[in-house]
Amino acid sequence: MFTITAQGKTFTCSRGENLRRVLLQHNIDLYNGQAKLINCRGIGSCGTCTLEIEGEVSQANWKDKARRSLPPHSPQKNRRLACQTKVNGDLKLTKYDGFWGQGDHVVWTAE
Ligand code: FES
Repeated sequence: MFTITAQGKTFTCSRGENLRRVLLQHNIDLYNGQAKLINCRGIGSCGTCTLEIEGEVSQANWKDKARRSLPPHSPQKNRRLACQTKVNGDLKLTKYDGFWGQGDHVVWTAE
């Protein structure tokens, strides 16, 4: 089991679990504002589930890389799509502002 810390909550999950599903199960505010309602439900196309991840996760797949290469995202930023990411270790997460989570201001951190 691995420990996930996000938005001041700590919980566990198994290796290989989908990060988006784990966060929603634990009522973490993965989406900013209206993105809670308007998102692709995890198919990797909307780009609103982005997070900064500290810890071990799966390699970025082509959907993750492709979506984050398009504005308003930037491949230069250290973000990942939660819906395309599998948990492979203990994680600490940070969410940034903006509809797509593309901003530079922190919305919430791990603690
Ligand atoms: S939920 Fe749309 S890209 Fe992750």
